[in-house]
Amino acid sequence: MPEVPEMQNVMVEREGHLALVYVNRPSKLNALDDLTIAELSAAMAALDDDDAVGAIIVTGAGEKAFVAGADIQVLAKQGVLDGKENARRGQALTLRMENCRKPVIAAINGFALGGGLELALACDVRFASDNAKVGLPEVSLGIIPGYGGTQRLPRLVGSGVALQMILQGDPIDAQEALRIGLVNGVFEQASLLDEVKKLASRMVSRGPQALALAKQAVRRGAHMSLQDGLDLEADLFGIISSTDEMKEGMAAFLEKRKPSWLRK
Ligand code: COA
Repeated sequence: MPEVPEMQNVMVEREGHLALVYVNRPSKLNALDDLTIAELSAAMAALDDDDAVGAIIVTGAGEKAFVAGADIQVLAKQGVLDGKENARRGQALTLRMENCRKPVIAAINGFALGGGLELALACDVRFASDNAKVGLPEVSLGIIPGYGGTQRLPRLVGSGVALQMILQGDPIDAQEALRIGLVNGVFEQASLLDEVKKLASRMVSRGPQALALAKQAVRRGAHMSLQDGLDLEADLFGIISSTDEMKEGMAAFLEKRKPSWLRK
C-alpha cells in the first residue's frame, strides 16, 4: 500500500475505503501556500495509487473555511515568471484531482474563495455547508483566477453566470451556489461531513473500474466533439466488458446478492 507522506499542512484520515483529505492551516483559513499545494499533490498521488481507497473527500480543517484562497502573502511578492509558475503549480494540482481514478468530492465547510473554489471545481462533485461562501474574488485584489477558475467555472455553470462571479468578485452563499448548480447539495455545517461520507460510501459500493472509466469518459469527453466522445465511450465500454468486474456485477444481480468487488 503506497504511504501518504508525513505532512505539515495537509492531514489524511482513512475510514474503510474512504480517504478524507483536510487542508490543515486553520490559522490562515487554510490558504494555499507552496507547501500546502505540494503536500496536497503528494497526498492525491498516493491515494490515487492506493487500491484500497475507493473515494476521496477533500475538506478544510477548522470551523470557518474550506480554503480561503491562494496565500495572499505569497501572491503579493510574485513577478511575471513566478506568477506563471505559481499558476502552473496550482493548475497541476487541480489536474491531478480531476484525473484521479477515484471519485473526488469536495465538502465545502465554510469559505471557498479564489484558489479554494478552484480546488473545489476540480473535484467531481461538491457539497456545501449552509454557512459556506464561495467565489472568485481575484479581481478585487487586482489579479485574475489562476488555478483553473476562468476555465472550469464557465464549463460548470455557464459563461454568463461565471463571468458575473468573476467580474464582480463577490462571493455567493450556499443556497445560491446550489441554485446555479455550483454545488450538488447543502447541509447544516455540523452534519456536512457525515452526509458527504454517506454519499461517498454509495459511490464506493459500485464497481471500482466502472467508476474510473465512467469518470474518464465524462472528463475526457468534455473536451471532444460529440462523435469523438461517443467513440471514446464505446471504447471504454468495450474495455469494461472484458473485466472480471463486469462478470461479478452481472452475476451478483442475477444471483440476487451484493457484488464483491476486487478492491484490496
Ligand atoms: N491568504 C493568506 N492569508 C489569509 C487568506 C489568504 N487567502 N485568507 C485569510 N487569511 C488569513 C488572514 O490574513 C488572517 O491571518 P492573521 O490572523 O495572521 O492576520 C487569518 O487568515 C484569518 O483571516 P481574517 O481575515 O482575520 O478572517 P475574517 O473572518 O475576518 O475574514 C475572509 C474571512 C475569508 C472574508 C477574509 O480572510 C478574506 O477576505 N480572505 C481573503 C480571501 C481572498 O481574497 N481569497 C482569494 C485569494 S486569490
